[in-house]
Amino acid sequence: MCGIVGCFAESGCYEKLMAALVNLEYRGYDSAGVALAGEKGIAVRKKKGAVRNLFGQPLAGTAGIGHTRWATHGKPSDENAHPHTAGKFALVHNGIIENYAALRAELSARGETFSSETDSEVIVKLIAALYSGDFFAAVAAACARLKGSYAVAVLCADHPREIVCAAYKSPLVAGAGKGAVYVCSDVPALFGAVSYVCPAEDGEFLHVCGSEIVFRRADGTPVPKVFCRTEEEGGARRQGGGSYMEAEIAQIPQGISRTLACLRGCDFAPAARVLRAAGRVFTAACGTAHHAALAFGHLLSQEARIPVLCEAASEFRYGDPLIGAGDVLVAVSQSGETADTLEAVRLAKQRGAFVIAVCNAPLSTLSRLADLLLQTCAGAEVAVAATKSYNCQLLCLYYLAAQAVFFKTTRFPAWFFALEGAARACGQALESAAAAERLARRLQGARAMYFIGRGADRFTAAEGALKVREIAYVFAESCPAGELKHGTLALVEEGFPVFAVATARALLQKTVNSLAEARARGARPVLFTQYGAEAAGCGAELFPPLPSLPEPLMPLVSVIPLQWFACHFCLLRGFDPDRPRNLAKSVTVE
Ligand code: M6R
Repeated sequence: MCGIVGCFAESGCYEKLMAALVNLEYRGYDSAGVALAGEKGIAVRKKKGAVRNLFGQPLAGTAGIGHTRWATHGKPSDENAHPHTAGKFALVHNGIIENYAALRAELSARGETFSSETDSEVIVKLIAALYSGDFFAAVAAACARLKGSYAVAVLCADHPREIVCAAYKSPLVAGAGKGAVYVCSDVPALFGAVSYVCPAEDGEFLHVCGSEIVFRRADGTPVPKVFCRTEEEGGARRQGGGSYMEAEIAQIPQGISRTLACLRGCDFAPAARVLRAAGRVFTAACGTAHHAALAFGHLLSQEARIPVLCEAASEFRYGDPLIGAGDVLVAVSQSGETADTLEAVRLAKQRGAFVIAVCNAPLSTLSRLADLLLQTCAGAEVAVAATKSYNCQLLCLYYLAAQAVFFKTTRFPAWFFALEGAARACGQALESAAAAERLARRLQGARAMYFIGRGADRFTAAEGALKVREIAYVFAESCPAGELKHGTLALVEEGFPVFAVATARALLQKTVNSLAEARARGARPVLFTQYGAEAAGCGAELFPPLPSLPEPLMPLVSVIPLQWFACHFCLLRGFDPDRPRNLAKSVTVE
């Protein structure tokens, strides 16, 4: 969701702040703003739209804050852009203040006026109202009145070399680099600018005083912290004028190799032991990560004969799940900051369950909350549409499933050994880019499409449909192939594209039959399979054959042509795949 950043630097503070803000833009791009505290008070520049709208004459000052917004309260506009100001203060906020209406009414009754529709503005008004010379105390006192989630960074004109920050259920990290210190929503936005980072825990404050960063409790007492070294690994570079999404799909083989190397060094004994002994296994995740979790649940129950309950994290947390001591929750998240997933984890932990996290951000809240972390080493993922992180999540989860099988039967399943060839197979699947582009060109005018599959292929189909919806803005629905005729088929008419993924030989003919039923109603079927020869003459367009891996591992490669398709479909329709409308990369609010 929104990204916040703060920076202190004796020279070039504005430029450093802007550079971090550009990196942070994937967290929201409805509006952006900066404020710097200088000799003459606080200068603010904020605008609707992208960070580049702020470029111009540098603002003077050595301490500054910045914001990229994903709107929650109030439309994207200059007025609703952060920083918000009151008296001597300027503030940026990520999160949602749930009692903002009551606070706003209270402040209004005292004669305060508001210039935005945001929940965030009440925080800065509250700070100004509580201020009597002690900057830190005013921020701490204001935070004590807030309900909801927040990461805030605040400037005060009386203390132009300080930034006071607070975090509660919204991520915030401190970073130290050459000639500058930072606070930021996310580590990747600081890659290159800092060498050491340290995340804040819920309820902690960060006090930047010149080039020193002190973690404090609400009463001001310092909290000792250890900063750890950080360096960028595996982030994508855009090729020419290309998108991050294209660059990140192209990076899948490297991500798979790195993740595999990392998994080989992992001690699986604790995880496999709890999985084998688990009364129940649950998964909680959102969006793409949920599709990876579904594929894992399918594989684990098939191969280890362990029942698995996969739930969207947003449902898990409110569904009073049956989870308890002796159960395992596998939480999957690229960012490790998805609010719904984190709440599912907190609930599972409260009830005594063991939590395994599959996460791409080792310093994230999820990674720190989990009893055991399996790190995906996809490298920073910038495009809002998740691609390489999905393949790496699948790999981690398959590895985990194989370990569970081993601990149950003392034998690894045969497909486990084929994971060594997964990176190469993904590399072969990347060669489908040109075919996917041609297909996208042929279907450019489509206004809706279906994705179908059976067994694990239905999750790949779901992921393909999500990608198309998310970045190409075309209605795309997925369903198990056999379900098509139970209602969904009614919408099929002349020329309607139906994509089928069929990677299990035993189910191939069944899926082909479903395509034939759709074709009989005018559909334009396309089949993605490694068994093209067996499906020849089935009446569907055969996409070039998928590279072959043992069937349980096929989702690692079968999703790649769908990722390429969605990307090219989006580009041909004239949209930016990296920044889909209405969305943001890290969904830190409910
Ligand atoms: O960071 P997470 O993996 O927890 O994010 C979960 C979803 O928000 C995310 O996968 C989303 O569905 C993607 N943008 C889809 O491409």
